[in-house]
Amino acid sequence: MKRLTVGAAAFAVAVAGFAVFGTGVKAQDPLFGDAESVEFALAVWEAMEDQKLVGENAIRAFPYVGGPPHGDILVTLESMLSVGGRTATVIVKKNYTLEFATVEDVANNPGQQHDVTVMFRREAGYDDDNHDWFWAKYTADGEILAGPPGPLAGRVYKGLEAGCIACHSNAPGGDMVFINDRHAM
Ligand code: HEC
Repeated sequence: MKRLTVGAAAFAVAVAGFAVFGTGVKAQDPLFGDAESVEFALAVWEAMEDQKLVGENAIRAFPYVGGPPHGDILVTLESMLSVGGRTATVIVKKNYTLEFATVEDVANNPGQQHDVTVMFRREAGYDDDNHDWFWAKYTADGEILAGPPGPLAGRVYKGLEAGCIACHSNAPGGDMVFINDRHAM
């Protein structure tokens, strides 16, 4: 019951945040979920597929046990990625939430049900406050997942108290990355 209330509150905040933003001074520069962000996220997916970071021919890395919010068993790859002629760091994480699944199950069958969360470092000035990370969440097939109020691609939930950016602000090392501290600038 408590969880439901929290979820509803987060939804209301997200929608309110967007409404304010939509009529605000930077209406021409949406935070996430807009056509430009979606297009960019699709270009990132295509580049990741070409570079074998996702998709059927993806490089196989050994899965490890994770926890909320991303999943029970995780596979993370980090690389340089070229998108639209610019090359920068990408961190791509496959998240498996499978009842009773083991690391071995995922290692044996990496194509099974999972989602993919991605951080890609955009050009300086894209999001000064948050190390210029571009955030996106996809299905295993590269469809962009949506949360209120739209597709999860861009500066996702910037300014809100929950979501990608708020939570990753707590990552050690001040680089918004949990898994290592190599990305502070
Ligand atoms: C409630 C906190 C929380 C939220 C919300 C969250 N993350 Fe994370 N994320 C983590 C934690 C903790 C880790 C490290 C452990 C793991 O891999 O699950 C992580 C790891 C990652 C990583 C691997 C790099 C790293 O930081 O270690 C990526 C990529 C990522 N998250 C993307 C996203 C995206 C995209 C969203 C939003 C759609 C998101 N995260 C939302 C907590 C969160």
